[in-house]
Amino acid sequence: MTYKVGILGATGAVGQEIIHLLHERAFPFSELRLLASARSAGKVQSYKEHSWTIEETTEESFQDLDICIFSAGGSQSKHFAPIAKQAGCLVIDNSSAFRMDDSVPLVVPEINPESALNHEGVIANPNCSTAISLMGLYPFHKAFGLKSVIACTYQAVSGSGAEALKELDDQLMAWSKGETFAPEVYPHPIAFNVIPHVDSFNEDGFTREEMKLLNESKKIMGLDSLQVNCTCVRVPVRRAHSIAITASFEKPIDLEVAKQAIHDFPNVELVDNPEQSEYPMPINYSEVVPCAVGRMRKTDIVPNGLSFWVTGDQLWKGAALNAIQIAELLVKENKVR
Ligand code: A2P
Repeated sequence: MTYKVGILGATGAVGQEIIHLLHERAFPFSELRLLASARSAGKVQSYKEHSWTIEETTEESFQDLDICIFSAGGSQSKHFAPIAKQAGCLVIDNSSAFRMDDSVPLVVPEINPESALNHEGVIANPNCSTAISLMGLYPFHKAFGLKSVIACTYQAVSGSGAEALKELDDQLMAWSKGETFAPEVYPHPIAFNVIPHVDSFNEDGFTREEMKLLNESKKIMGLDSLQVNCTCVRVPVRRAHSIAITASFEKPIDLEVAKQAIHDFPNVELVDNPEQSEYPMPINYSEVVPCAVGRMRKTDIVPNGLSFWVTGDQLWKGAALNAIQIAELLVKENKVR
């Protein structure tokens, strides 16, 4: 069986990865429709020997599609998802628009695949830092029972889209020529800087991005009592997010059991030889399927504490790959419709 597949936001940083991964993972599509804004309509997009004309997204765009992966921001999702659903097209949405909606499954296929099977036409993909954090946290949760998390993120600029990546490159070029550069995407220069500000601030001083780790982790793992304290930081890395995590568990930590838990979990690797300077880093975990855990050590700062570092490609596991894994799961279970 083959499917007619659309990508809303096909010209964006995540959209481009979706085109790549649909081909490289041999997703069974009979037709691929690339949707973006009127600005891109008529432009030609190529991948290997294939090429497509980008179409402006309209209310008719979803009429004969089976699946559309949305990656054009929350307002496009809010507007077009009900229209696509009405047209019988399954939406897998990368934005935050529906993640906390009770009728919308929020899915990491390695963690809660069964949730995806009960969809009502829309499935949400988690926030990128949440997906990557949980690829490290969930195996430990299964082994020791997770209670609370203190996290600090190191988030790559491509997580803010193609414009942000260009902003980093342009700032580096300007710097190399001794010129100044006025930031547009970020409130401050990102080259040679770190910015402890991702998404907008709430009244309590936390950002919306920081609250996503709490709320989405609870929903994905079904852990209502989970406590999370997070600080999100943008760093001048092109691609792949890292998260430094200290977590408290029900049971005492045994490091050998912790290593085995990572070993036994799909799509996560242990890279933990600090004496040989071996630990996960963005340059090693860009454009690869697995995430990686390292710097694992017990800590007394919280009861039954474990500190570790996890890295993963946020354009892949944090967005495009996770969305395609959801689609693959539904195809396998014959649950696209
Ligand atoms: P376009 O390139 O035509 O602006 P990124 O996350 O990298 O910034 O990409 C955002 C994606 O969302 C792009 O593909 C962009 O298309 C698309 N997009 C932005 N606004 C709209 C819109 N009004 N309708 C459809 N797609 C949109």
